[in-house]
Amino acid sequence: MKKILVTSALPYANGPLHIGHIAGAYLPADIYTRYQKLRGRNAIHICGTDEHGVAITIRADREGKTPKEIVDFYHERIKEDFRLMRIEFDNFSRTTLPLHYETAKEFFLRLYEKGYISKKETEQYYCPNCKRFLPDRYVEGTCPYCGYEKARGDQCDNCGRWLEPKELINPRCAICGTTPELRKSFHYYLLLSKLAPKLKAYLDTKKSYWKPEVIGLALSWIREGLKDRAITRDLSWGVPVPLKEAQGKVLYVWFDAPIGYISSTKEWAIKKGDPDLWKEWWQDKENTKLVHFIGKDNIVFHALVWPSMLLGHGDYVLPDNVPANYYLNLEGSKISTSRNWAIWIGDLARLYPADYIRFALTYSMPETKDSDFTFADFKERINNELVNNFGNFVNRTLSFIVKYLKGRVGPLTDKGSGEDAHILSLVEKAPYELGNLIDTYNFRKGLKYIMELSASGNRYFDKMAPWISRKQDLNRTKRTLSVCYALIRTLSVLIEPYLPDSAQKIRKMIKSNLRNWEKAADWSIPTEIEIERPEVLYKKVEEEKIEIKEEKMDYITFDEFKKLIIKIGSIKNAEKVEGADKLLKLTVDLGDKEITLAAGIAEYYEPSELIGKQIPVLVNLEPKKIRGILSQGMMLAADEKGRPILLHPEKEVRPGSKVR
Ligand code: MF3
Ligand code: ZN
Repeated sequence: MKKILVTSALPYANGPLHIGHIAGAYLPADIYTRYQKLRGRNAIHICGTDEHGVAITIRADREGKTPKEIVDFYHERIKEDFRLMRIEFDNFSRTTLPLHYETAKEFFLRLYEKGYISKKETEQYYCPNCKRFLPDRYVEGTCPYCGYEKARGDQCDNCGRWLEPKELINPRCAICGTTPELRKSFHYYLLLSKLAPKLKAYLDTKKSYWKPEVIGLALSWIREGLKDRAITRDLSWGVPVPLKEAQGKVLYVWFDAPIGYISSTKEWAIKKGDPDLWKEWWQDKENTKLVHFIGKDNIVFHALVWPSMLLGHGDYVLPDNVPANYYLNLEGSKISTSRNWAIWIGDLARLYPADYIRFALTYSMPETKDSDFTFADFKERINNELVNNFGNFVNRTLSFIVKYLKGRVGPLTDKGSGEDAHILSLVEKAPYELGNLIDTYNFRKGLKYIMELSASGNRYFDKMAPWISRKQDLNRTKRTLSVCYALIRTLSVLIEPYLPDSAQKIRKMIKSNLRNWEKAADWSIPTEIEIERPEVLYKKVEEEKIEIKEEKMDYITFDEFKKLIIKIGSIKNAEKVEGADKLLKLTVDLGDKEITLAAGIAEYYEPSELIGKQIPVLVNLEPKKIRGILSQGMMLAADEKGRPILLHPEKEVRPGSKVR
C-alpha cells in the first residue's frame, strides 16, 4: 500500500464536541494518522462538517435561526474544539461548499444512470397540526425491531438500524407530538436489494480482520435482507436532487455526507495546487488503503450503505477497514446532549492541557466495548501513570544528568550486558511492537505498552541507583543515565501520536530532532550531548478543578419551558409505603381532580406534618409506576445537599393554581 486515506466521521454542525466524539472517532484517527506519517508512510486525514439534514434544521427551527447561521457558527466552533485537542486534518471541509454539491450530484446521477436508484411512489407522514410533511427525524415512535420507544424516523438509537418513518409503531410528530397522517408523495430509492450480492461479496473479504462487532452487525443485517431506501427528502435544506422532475427535493443527509470524504479530498488537492491529485487517492484501487474512523451509531452507513454506493458507482476505492468504536459513557450513564449529560471539549480544555485529555481518553477509549469516563479515573490515571510513571522517568533522568553530569550525556556505542542490554533491547523492538498495535487499531494497548516502557525505565533507574553510583563510579552513572536518555529519546518518538505536545517538549529538552519511527529503534548516542535544566512535564491533577459538570448551563427556549405544567396542590393524605423506606404516597388536590404522587421524602418528613400543606407539582410528567404506586406527576422541592426541603406558596392559594 502506498497511500493511506484516513477519514473520520463528519461531525454534524449543530453543536460543539464532547469527549464522546473525541474518544469515539477523532482521537483514534489522529493517533493513527500521526503514527503513519512518523513511519514515513504517505497518509492523509480528511474530514469536515456535515451541514445538512434534519439535525440541523430542527436546531435552527428551535433557535429561530436559519440553517446557514447554525452551520456557519458550529463549523468554526468545531474547528476550534479540534484545535484544542490537537486533532489535525490535512483538510477540514464543509458539505455546503459548491464543490461538494457538484460531487454529490454527480454521484447521484451515476447511480441513477446505472439503475441503482429509482423513483417510487410512496406515502409520507404529514402533520395536520404543523401543516407540513415530516421527513425522517421529524417523526418519532417505537422501533419495530427492538421495541425502543424513542426511535427516530431515520435510525433507532438503541439497535442502530436504519429505519423509515413508516416503519415506526405509534408515530408522532417530533415538533408537536400529534399523530401524523399519511399522504402520497414520491421519492428516489437506493436499490440496496440490487446491490446486496456485490456488497455481500465485499464484506466476505473482511471477515478475517474487521472488528467482530462491525462485521457481525453488517453481515447480520444483510442476512435479514436489505430493503431499498429513500435517499431523498421533501426539504429545502440540502443538496437539490439533480433531476427536473424532482423540484423541491433534496438528497438525504446520509447520502450526501459520506460523499463529503471525496469532496473534502478534492478541496485538499485544489489547495495544494494540483486539482487532480484527489484521483490518486480515490481512484487508485491497488494502492490506496481507505480507513473510516466512526462511532458505533454510524456502522450501518459505513459498512452497508456507503460501500454499496461505492460499489454501484464503480470508480472509487472501497473501505479497507471501518474501525468503529463503541460508546463512551460518562460517570456510568450514556452521554446525552439533550440532557446536557456531557463534558464539552471547550470546557475541559480550559482546565487541562490537551495531552492530559488525550491521555485519559485513550486510556478509556471504547475500542472493544462501551467504556466509562469518570473524574475519579481521570485523576487517578493522570497522577499515577502520566505524572508518576512517564513524567517522573523523564524528569528524574534529565535532572540527574544536569545535576551530576553537568548536563552531559553519552556517547553510548556498546550495548553492554545485564540490565543495560535489557533496556536497550526493549528500545530495539519497541517501534515495531507498538507499530503493530497501532496498525491493528489497538490504541489503548499501544498507550499501555508505552507506559510499560517507562515503567521499565523507572525500575532500571531504581536498581542502578545513580545517586549512589555517582559517589563511587561516575562512569557507571554516566552509562546508566545514557541508557535512560536513549530510552527517553525513543519514547519521545513513540509518544508523539498520542501526546504530540509532550513529544515536542521532550525533544526540546533532550536536544533531539528525531521524528522517525524506524530510527527510534536505534539506541546509540554517537557523540556527547549537552542538555539544559529540564522543565517539569506534568503537574498532578487536584480535586477541586474537576467539578465541571455542575457549573454547566443548558438553556431551554421559552416554548420548551411552556411545556411544563406546574400547579399548586394541597396534600390531602400522606402515608408510608410498605417495603420502600424512602417513599411516601401522597394524595394531592388539584382543584379539578385529585392525583397520587410517589415522593422520595420519607426519611425527612412524617406523613402527619404534610397533610394540609400546599406544594408545587409538575403535573404533565409521564405517569410512572414506582414501587406499585402509579405516580401522576412530581412534587417539586428544594435540594439541599441531597435533602429535600418543601416549598410552599407565600399565601394559601386555590388548589390547581398554575405556577408560571
Ligand atoms: N454527521 C454524522 C454523525 O455525526 C456522521 C456523518 S459521517 C459521514 O453521526 F460519513 F457521513 F460523513
Ligand atoms: Zn431498534
